[in-house]
Amino acid sequence: MAADPDRYAVFGNPVVHSKSPQIHQWFARQTGQDISYSKQLVEEGQFESAAARFFRSGGKGLNITMPFKLNAFTFADRVTPRAERAGAVNTLARQGDGSILGDNTDGAGMVADITANLGWPLDARRVLVLGAGGAVRGVLQPLLSEGPGRLLIANRTVAKALQLARNFRDLGRIQVCGFEDLAGQQFDLVINGTAASLAGDLPPLPEGLLGDGACCYDMMYAAEPTVFLRWAREQGAQACADGLGMLVGQAAESFFLWRGVRPDTAAVIKLLRQALCRGQVPPVG
Ligand code: ATR
Repeated sequence: MAADPDRYAVFGNPVVHSKSPQIHQWFARQTGQDISYSKQLVEEGQFESAAARFFRSGGKGLNITMPFKLNAFTFADRVTPRAERAGAVNTLARQGDGSILGDNTDGAGMVADITANLGWPLDARRVLVLGAGGAVRGVLQPLLSEGPGRLLIANRTVAKALQLARNFRDLGRIQVCGFEDLAGQQFDLVINGTAASLAGDLPPLPEGLLGDGACCYDMMYAAEPTVFLRWAREQGAQACADGLGMLVGQAAESFFLWRGVRPDTAAVIKLLRQALCRGQVPPVG
């Protein structure tokens, strides 16, 4: 009799719109891995008991989405250095000795999308990151490791950007400012990591921010171009991308941690984009 497939799941609240089951099923088919992957709505305050039950019953790994990434960080027996830096865990993996490893694959997923899928170089480039919340904290280590020429974080609350710069000081120099201080400066890559787009808002950005050949990346995605990417086009960006590739990229990093096999993300991004445009996948960040 064939063995049951290894079990994985995504925990979140809400979780009904999560694309992770679909993405991991595509990965599994593509790489010939026999896994099952489900989604589970977890009530607030119930994360620890639900995760403990999942692993006790033989589950191999979890993806963690809002609002449980900090709970997952404390739940893990140990965390990877990049999760430690991010201060959050989006992937849990049961190890051979039964202990639970916590990782954060968001930043690696974004950087892989930017450099490998989109082919935008980061080394020696002038990079501007908008926002200084949890999403941005999660991507700073992989970004710095690409060796940008300049990394500036602009945030509405400058003190939060300053705190991030201090936390990452040993990995590289991060400059910080408010949006009003951006006037007169130019960048090769602008990454939007603010939650403003969720409300259809745009931070107040000055004209002329994009240098020749500049690219713009929104960590959020939607079926239609986001408000930030519409702004980028108007400002003459050479290339634009939303965060769909980051979503698939972080999933691929989780899949690799669990299965030791790297899926082809470009093929899955294409499938997911088609589903999104057909309205089969709800647009969320
Ligand atoms: P996330 O986990 O999505 O990063 P977060 O930690 O609450 O969420 O951070 C949200 C980020 O979006 C912050 O940088 C926030 O700016 P503040 O630090 O000043 O709060 C930014 N943000 C949210 N709404 C915004 C808006 N309308 N304009 C500009 N920035 C906004």
